[in-house]
Amino acid sequence: MSTDILSNNAMKWVLSTIPVGDSIDLSHFELVEEKLILPQDDLVLVESLLWSLDPSTRLMMKPSQGGFPGLSPGDTIPSLGIGRVIHTTSNKAAVGSLVRGPIGWSTHATLDANSITVIPQEAKRLEDYLSVLSTTGATAYFGLVELARAKKGESLLITAAAGAVGSIAGQIGKILGLRVVGITGNKEKGQWLVEELGFDASINYRGENVEEKIRMCLPDGIDIHFENVGAHFLQLGLDYLNYQGRIILCGLISEYNQPQVTQLNNLSQIIFKSAIIRGIFLNKDFGHRLSDAYDKLEQWLDDGMLKNPVQQYSGFENLPSTFLKLFSDNKSFGKLLVKV
Ligand SMILES: NC(=O)c1ccc[n+]([C@@H]2O[C@H](COP(=O)([O-])OP(=O)(O)OC[C@H]3O[C@@H](n4cnc5c(N)ncnc54)[C@H](OP(=O)(O)O)[C@@H]3O)[C@@H](O)[C@H]2O)c1
Repeated sequence: MSTDILSNNAMKWVLSTIPVGDSIDLSHFELVEEKLILPQDDLVLVESLLWSLDPSTRLMMKPSQGGFPGLSPGDTIPSLGIGRVIHTTSNKAAVGSLVRGPIGWSTHATLDANSITVIPQEAKRLEDYLSVLSTTGATAYFGLVELARAKKGESLLITAAAGAVGSIAGQIGKILGLRVVGITGNKEKGQWLVEELGFDASINYRGENVEEKIRMCLPDGIDIHFENVGAHFLQLGLDYLNYQGRIILCGLISEYNQPQVTQLNNLSQIIFKSAIIRGIFLNKDFGHRLSDAYDKLEQWLDDGMLKNPVQQYSGFENLPSTFLKLFSDNKSFGKLLVKV
């Protein structure tokens, strides 16, 4: 054990400066080296293997709006990930076991034993534990099943439908017997939603008139609008929402790296339609019940009813450039991950 490990240094990506305004680029990230320290009480030291890339990290680089604490220059970029335990002072995880936890963009991380989940030895695909069987899948599940109370025969419109949460939400919608339409940013992703994931239809917001297509694909209106993007999509969702329709406000990614802020001028529709707009903040709302979602999602995966689309890039050094793809590259399908 130990002294060999300590001969290595850890590398980590930190925030170099807080982005001013809304633009962010590679200059906002800096690679630094630090000495490894052996953990003391009830901690595990892991060697990082796989990182989850999430839009919420971008929100942490802005002044806090209440949801997440803001980062300061020098802070390690936070991230959920999977690592192999190389030293432990906890009986929760043995050396050699794989664990999920808040490893950050770091080659090694010391984690509180309470913050880790041990990945079962029989796990078939490691990436499932950072996507469908993690916060991504649970957000889609609780948003649709518990908050929207989706029912067979209803209609569902999803924005950023080919993204991580959207692609799972749409598949859950199909499993529950809904008519599912997804909005995404290019034709290939739209075809993929229909041909690979079983969506009923897709709308390419870059190449098609979204409003016309909503009318065409959802002629009886929208019962549930699952919002990941914000901007004019939310306004349209409300315009075409049915009586007692539900809008699940999951994310507003169009705002995270852009100056535009979502504005609605049709709020009266909420009254006339007796509609509900319900936010979801997974860890606060359902942090104590995540296993309920994971059990169901795992069963659907095992039964072949649910696919887990992930796009994996390689290289710790590529974490910042891959992260920026969440906002600027419309070629990503499903969940974006980086492996070591
Ligand atoms: N509330 C919660 O507890 C919770 C938990 C997880 C995630 N979220 C939120 O849910 C949303 C989806 O998260 P995710 O992890 O699944 O990310 P994601 O959808 O995989 O994010 C990447 C995709 O977002 C789309 N996008 C990026 N910028 C856009 C813009 N300006 N306009 C329109 N589309 C844009 C792009 O797809 P296109 O090619 O289709 O444009 C891109 O491929 C995010 O807003 C996230 O913050 C919330």
